[in-house]
Amino acid sequence: MVCSNMVMINFRDPEGKVVATDARSGLTLMEAALNAGVEGIEAACGGACSCATCHVYVDPSWTDELPGPSDLETDMLEIVNDRRPNSRLSCQIKIAAGLQGLEVAVPATQDVDG
Ligand code: FES
Repeated sequence: MVCSNMVMINFRDPEGKVVATDARSGLTLMEAALNAGVEGIEAACGGACSCATCHVYVDPSWTDELPGPSDLETDMLEIVNDRRPNSRLSCQIKIAAGLQGLEVAVPATQDVDG
């Protein structure tokens, strides 16, 4: 049975292994990754947008489907190593029905500057 508030998310871990997980709408991508045991997400601040160790790369085909980052998230992204145009903080992205099949990749490290 398919539960309508579950959304399939594909996480690609730093080793390239894809973990497909059904995540509940309303959770954040960070919470879904931790629940699914995805390697490489630290989330040291627990989702308060103050550590930047939940960095992910959103597949470019999905960037327009997501609400843009807040000013706080944009500021925090400045301290991540290997920031790219599709970098986001996974604790700031809420899972919603429109994200069915979303693909995100976890960077090789969650090292931050400063
Ligand atoms: S968990 Fe700390 S910024 Fe996302």
